[in-house]
Parts: sequence; structure tokens; C-alpha cells
Amino acid sequence: MLEPSFLNSHSPAYSPYVIGPPLPRYGTSLDVADARRGGSILAGLLRRLRRERRRRKVGRAYDMALEIARAIPNAYEILDVGCGNGFIAQHLAGLLGSYVLGIDVDGQPEAPVNFRRYDGKHFPAGDHSFEAVLFCYVLHHAQDIGAILSELKRVLKDDGSVVVYEDIPATWWDRFLCGVHNRQWRGRTGECTFRGEAEWRDTFQAAGFEIVQQRSLSRWRNFAHPVCRKFFVLRLSKAQN
Ligand SMILES: C[S@@+](CC[C@H](N)C(=O)[O-])C[C@H]1O[C@@H](n2cnc3c(N)ncnc32)[C@H](O)[C@@H]1O
Repeated sequence: MLEPSFLNSHSPAYSPYVIGPPLPRYGTSLDVADARRGGSILAGLLRRLRRERRRRKVGRAYDMALEIARAIPNAYEILDVGCGNGFIAQHLAGLLGSYVLGIDVDGQPEAPVNFRRYDGKHFPAGDHSFEAVLFCYVLHHAQDIGAILSELKRVLKDDGSVVVYEDIPATWWDRFLCGVHNRQWRGRTGECTFRGEAEWRDTFQAAGFEIVQQRSLSRWRNFAHPVCRKFFVLRLSKAQN
């Protein structure tokens, strides 16, 4: 039997803001009509929940893209390593008018962005081909941090910038949340390695980078994951150039 048009989200009559007119009875019993009405309310609520989740994801990515755009205002070619859903890359391309390439070892972006999957070892990019490289909550996933930082040095232009966001296990609460994150991801991309702020500084400096900006971010920027966070902007240290 054909569905009434207002039950079908692909129908032109569908509106995200209206659950629909009262259900026609089609000569059926009152019970069946009531059950259908209940189903359509549930379907409407689920649609709203999905839309709300997507809005939060896109909004969070937009806030991060604004923050990144302020740190790398002149970057035209940007590599987003571990781009995930791709919304940060999409917003950045719009905000800066830049070419942004997203790469990831897993999944497929939801946003319509330039994307290449990679093996977690070799960035699919030429030597010194990017003016900025982003690692947004990605470096703790790296199985070989030395290899990923050496790939970074290979693809980054000499005066290029690197933006890093990291979750920091500063307190027992942060360590608990990092543990939860690890359990969610280890089956897909391997065990996470979370580092403290000083440990990240040492890691970046040992790899030949200087830290030109460092900030603490509010743990409440994501109510679903209220962990201590840091934002770093790095450049190749002068001795490397
Ligand atoms: C917490 S998500 C962050 C996604 C996105 N950057 C963001 O901020 O919305 C971590 C992402 O890193 C990716 N990832 C895991 N291991 C990686 C690796 N070795 N190299 C690059 N990306 C990796 C995962 O597939 C995932 O998309």
C-alpha cells in the first residue's frame, strides 16, 4: 500500500517542521490509525534528533574552522590529516577560499570535500606541497608518531604552519574520558596514546618544530566530551630551514 505523502521524507510535501496533518482513516479501525499516528510522531522525533546531531557536528566544525582560519589566514593549500566527517575542511575552504585536501585512514567524509584515503604511513602528497597541515584530535591516534611527524616535515612548505588540537589527560577525569575515547576507537585505528602538554611540546621540538602559539581550550566546548584540550600552532624551527 502507498504511504501517505507526509510520512515520506523524500516527498515534495515533506517539511522538517511539520509532523503532518491528521492521518486519513482509509476505512481502517481507530486503533490502526492511532498506531500510525504514534509511528509518525516517533519518526518525526527521530528525524529531529538526527538533524540536531548533525547541526551540532557542523556547528562545532564551523567554530573550529574559524579558529584555524585566524591562525593560518594566508594558507592557500591546506592538508587536513584525519579529516573525519570533512566538515572542518569544507568550512575552511569556504572561509579562506583555499584548496583543502582531507585524508584519513578510515571512513568516508560526509561533507563534499577533496578526499584521499591513505595507509597511515605515507601522506598522498608531494614534497613541500602544503602551506598548512591540520591535525584536529588526530595525533593521539598515530601508531608511529615519529613517522607521521617526518611525513609532516616532508609535505610542509618551509614557512608553512601546523595546527594541532589535542585532548590532554591532565586530571583523573580527563584520563577517564581519554580511556573511553580509546575504547571507542582502538578497534578501528589502534590504541590511542594521549600525552600531557609538556610531553607534546617535547615531541614537537624533538621533531624540529617550534611552538608559535599555544592555548588552553574550554572543556565545555563539547558537552558530550568535557575533556582538557590544547591548541598548538607550530612552524619548522629556523635551524631546520
Ligand atoms: C577524533 S576523530 C577527529 C576527526 C576530525 N579531525 C575532527 O576533528 O572532527 C580522529 C580521526 O583520525 C583518524 N585517524 C586515526 N588514525 C590516523 C592516522 N594514523 N592518520 C590519520 N588519521 C588517523 C580517524 O579515522 C578519525 O577520522
